[in-house]
Amino acid sequence: MNLNPGPVQTQVLVRWIINSDVPRALELCNSWITPAMTERNLRALLRVRSYIGLVAELADGSQKVVGYLIYDLDTMQILSMAVDPQYQLQGIGRQMLDNVKIKLTANRPSLWAVLTGKTMDARPFLERNRFIVTEGKNILLAEYTFSGLGLHEEPEIVDMGGHPVIDET
Ligand SMILES: CC(C)(COP(=O)(O)OP(=O)(O)OC[C@H]1O[C@@H](n2cnc3c(N)ncnc32)[C@H](O)[C@@H]1OP(=O)(O)O)[C@@H](O)C(=O)NCCC(=O)NCCS
Repeated sequence: MNLNPGPVQTQVLVRWIINSDVPRALELCNSWITPAMTERNLRALLRVRSYIGLVAELADGSQKVVGYLIYDLDTMQILSMAVDPQYQLQGIGRQMLDNVKIKLTANRPSLWAVLTGKTMDARPFLERNRFIVTEGKNILLAEYTFSGLGLHEEPEIVDMGGHPVIDET
């Protein structure tokens, strides 16, 4: 019997950002970005036709917004994302990414992000979410490619020290 409950996972509802979320999204953004983004900059970003803003709201009924993600629907580039530091490592970043991954199709097969400076710290998070990271000079390119399978149907590749083995359990 496994007595280890594993890391805490917090369920969130991922939905489009609305006007009244902007100050909170700005607060989350500025909890890690310097120089700080202004509300005017953020609103201008969200007015770009192909830029989609999402927020993660706690599913416990409190409606507390604990994360945001902005991506470009035309290029499928993640432009910015963050989770409230008090709620990090609880699966919230993953739930937001999954919400974008489901938009991928055979014609729009990959989701990517450019990491520079402080955003490079997100490398292990993206790798845990099946992004392949390519290193450049002071820059990382992270890319997740649509496999044609559903998100939760992707087989785990188990490293057995030789040829990769598909885990069918
Ligand atoms: C990067 C960030 C969005 C991740 O959000 P999160 O909600 O903490 O991530 P999750 O809990 O969903 O993590 C998913 C997996 O990645 C791993 N992970 C997340 N951050 C990690 C880190 N810094 N180091 C190692 N692993 C990490 C988790 O352990 C988890 O692994 P598991 O599959 O073994 O459970 C969050 O750390 C953050 O807001 N960072 C500051 C802003 C930033 O860097 N944005 C990135 C722009 S692309």
